[in-house]
Amino acid sequence: MRILVTGAAGFIGSHLCEQLLVDPNNEVIGVDTFIGPTPLKLKQINLVSLQVHPRFKLYSIDLLSADLEKLVENVDIIYHLAAIPGVRASWGKDFDPYVTNNIFVTQRLLETIKNKPIQKFIFASTSSVYGEKNGKVTEDATLTPLSPYGITKLTGEHLCNVYQKSYNIPLIKVRFFTVYGPRQRPDMAFHRFIKQILNDEPISIFGDGTQTRDFTFISDCIQATSAIMTKEHVVGQTINIGGKERASVNEVVLMIEELTGKKASIEYTPKLNGEPKHTWADISLAKNLLDYDPKISLREGLAREIEYIRQVYSL
Ligand SMILES: NC(=O)c1ccc[n+]([C@@H]2O[C@H](COP(=O)([O-])OP(=O)(O)OC[C@H]3O[C@@H](n4cnc5c(N)ncnc54)[C@H](O)[C@@H]3O)[C@@H](O)[C@H]2O)c1
Repeated sequence: MRILVTGAAGFIGSHLCEQLLVDPNNEVIGVDTFIGPTPLKLKQINLVSLQVHPRFKLYSIDLLSADLEKLVENVDIIYHLAAIPGVRASWGKDFDPYVTNNIFVTQRLLETIKNKPIQKFIFASTSSVYGEKNGKVTEDATLTPLSPYGITKLTGEHLCNVYQKSYNIPLIKVRFFTVYGPRQRPDMAFHRFIKQILNDEPISIFGDGTQTRDFTFISDCIQATSAIMTKEHVVGQTINIGGKERASVNEVVLMIEELTGKKASIEYTPKLNGEPKHTWADISLAKNLLDYDPKISLREGLAREIEYIRQVYSL
């Protein structure tokens, strides 16, 4: 299979490419233009093993202006992960790149493949499309995003829907729930907390820390996402990808303290706009369609992220 992965230098994209290459029949074309919250140096580290892989090719191009016709030539599967992620920065004057990279780019890609023999187009969406919900959320819940970021991702989903309907594009949407682990983006909470705690710097917790999240360890996220390639009966589906465990932010910090042997100095700051109080994925559909079985406990996953942070920052 010839697979195109957009956002290949990013957190999830780089892990996905590595997993897809485990199958000797796969060839992976990665695309990335090195923007967003993660500095170039960290993305170069994400790419270390991929860059020397004989069945991987990276194009450092912007999907907003690149010749997409050429890019998708002879491609069987597309994983579209490229985006500007993150809720916080989507407020205010920095909204433009969210619109261009999350909406325009998605439309350009869909427009390019609408009459091509692509076998599957997988769109990376987010739990942020749900907004505030009580209890476990299934894929058919109402979609009421709380942030400008969530709106751009939901717009991406809607674009996928209309292209699927009018052009029969074999589409699958996955909604990721807070992914963490090695290579997690530096704007994300675990990355910030671990780095600051190891550096004996104070950490900021937005709100009172009782907010809970469904945390998905990266290898679990990749197990589910890569399985879409080979599974039948997935086309047309929207699938939640949640993790093995949920926890509050306060519980996570406590665990990081235990695992690092360091005490966090915590500053509680006002609650962020755009963040729901709780997220909780119903993953029954992923279990049924993808044989998804998240395996990594929060403690184990945090330990692996701590190891990564120690390595990349020499801490
Ligand atoms: N990390 C999470 O917890 C999470 C949760 C829900 C959804 N998602 C979604 O998963 C996807 C990947 O997220 P991530 O955390 O790996 O983010 P990331 O920032 O690490 O990766 C995204 C990559 O896309 C690239 N990109 C953006 N615009 C581009 C363009 N115009 N042309 C080429 N490349 C471009 C960026 O350079 C970046 O490397 C995103 O679509 C995000 O919305 C992530």
